Amino acid sequence: MSLSGKIVVSRKTSELIIILLFALVMGMGNRAMAGVDIACQRDASGKCKVSRGNCTPRRQSDDADGDIGSCEACDPGMVCDDRRSVSKISLPGLSLRTLFGLHDIRVGAAVATEPLLNDTLYRTTLAREFSMVTPKDALKFGSVHQYRDRYDFSEADVIVGFAEVYGMEVRGHTLVWEPAPSVSEQLPRNRLPGWLFEKNWAWEESINILRDHITTVVGRYRGRVKVWDVVNEAVAPDGSLRNTFWLRHIGPEYIEMAFRWAHEADPEAKLFYNDYDGEGLGQKSDSIYALLRELLQRGVPIHGVGLQLHVSTDNYPEPKDVAANIQRLSDLGLEVHITEMDVRIEGPATEEKLAEQARIYREMLEAGLSTRKFGAMVLWGFTDRYSWIPEYFNGSGNALIFDKSYRPKLAYNALLEELSE
Ligand code: XIL
Repeated sequence: MSLSGKIVVSRKTSELIIILLFALVMGMGNRAMAGVDIACQRDASGKCKVSRGNCTPRRQSDDADGDIGSCEACDPGMVCDDRRSVSKISLPGLSLRTLFGLHDIRVGAAVATEPLLNDTLYRTTLAREFSMVTPKDALKFGSVHQYRDRYDFSEADVIVGFAEVYGMEVRGHTLVWEPAPSVSEQLPRNRLPGWLFEKNWAWEESINILRDHITTVVGRYRGRVKVWDVVNEAVAPDGSLRNTFWLRHIGPEYIEMAFRWAHEADPEAKLFYNDYDGEGLGQKSDSIYALLRELLQRGVPIHGVGLQLHVSTDNYPEPKDVAANIQRLSDLGLEVHITEMDVRIEGPATEEKLAEQARIYREMLEAGLSTRKFGAMVLWGFTDRYSWIPEYFNGSGNALIFDKSYRPKLAYNALLEELSE
């Protein structure tokens, strides 16, 4: 109460009220959606698929892999139960988005355009649970700049537009990256475009190419994409700079140049360095730390560091080392994001392995929460239905927090619990 008798609500309190109201509305939305009728139809290949319709819900059964829309019979007029009701949340009305919001931390997922356009459950789960999105591939060099004189932003526009509608922040990924050869070979979408390799570019030409790329991409989303992974995976396991196209053509100064061009193109954007296998303590994370400290000392506009955290239940950094690393990076003044977390399981996803996975998700979050400048926890996808793991790590999978049918896994509840403590 103020002296004049008016009720004074602090900014923090009013933010909390808005978040709780939002949670309530989203919760009511979920319950209401459970009653929405879903028509069962066959697609061209004869496989059942589910789409919005006006029919009465009747029955539906799972097929072996739990895919959506696997109706036993599928005739016009026959309907499935609404599978959205599978997203039963243990705390009704509460979502990751709400609880992370209460801690003033973003929770994000890498997203692909195809399911965003074609899978309703993907969209509703994403908007309900997450407050940040990272385009998985749509902003990579090979996606937007496949031809030398032409940029294609069609896929990225879909994702950025979706994020704006649902009040989500976008992490732009990524401006400067040459993937490891194994990624390029197995996942061709990540390759740098062929035209870059058709000529032996002179130093000035290479600089012009990279400057034009960064200026055009960052400039297009100026004010809309608030965070950029400017340079991705520049450091080798032994701490030296990886031998990439950009190192060979420009030299080590390409890193500094990239940050400066990105800053010129959008002075308000937060600019990040992002890497893998440098999350805990060790040679690579020491080298990343030293690189960032040096860049900061030289006044390079760099605001944060991304820890990818692609790990497995058999191999992951000690959470206490991750906490120590986040803390020392915070002490440099950098914001720290977990940017690509997934916890893959080798072989069948037994109860024990799923519990172990949940523990790892929870302890990594706990590590972040224990530090000062932890700003976001982003997963590399959110449903096992669309994950890069089985394609890239043969025999592994089940790495995310929702299963293939969008049912929350133990890991999902573990995150909610950690945030509720
Ligand atoms: C992955 C994407 O998820 C896949 O869709 C793609 O085909 C292969 O690359 N480090 C990164 C990400 O920074 O961009 C990579 O993304 C995974 C490893």
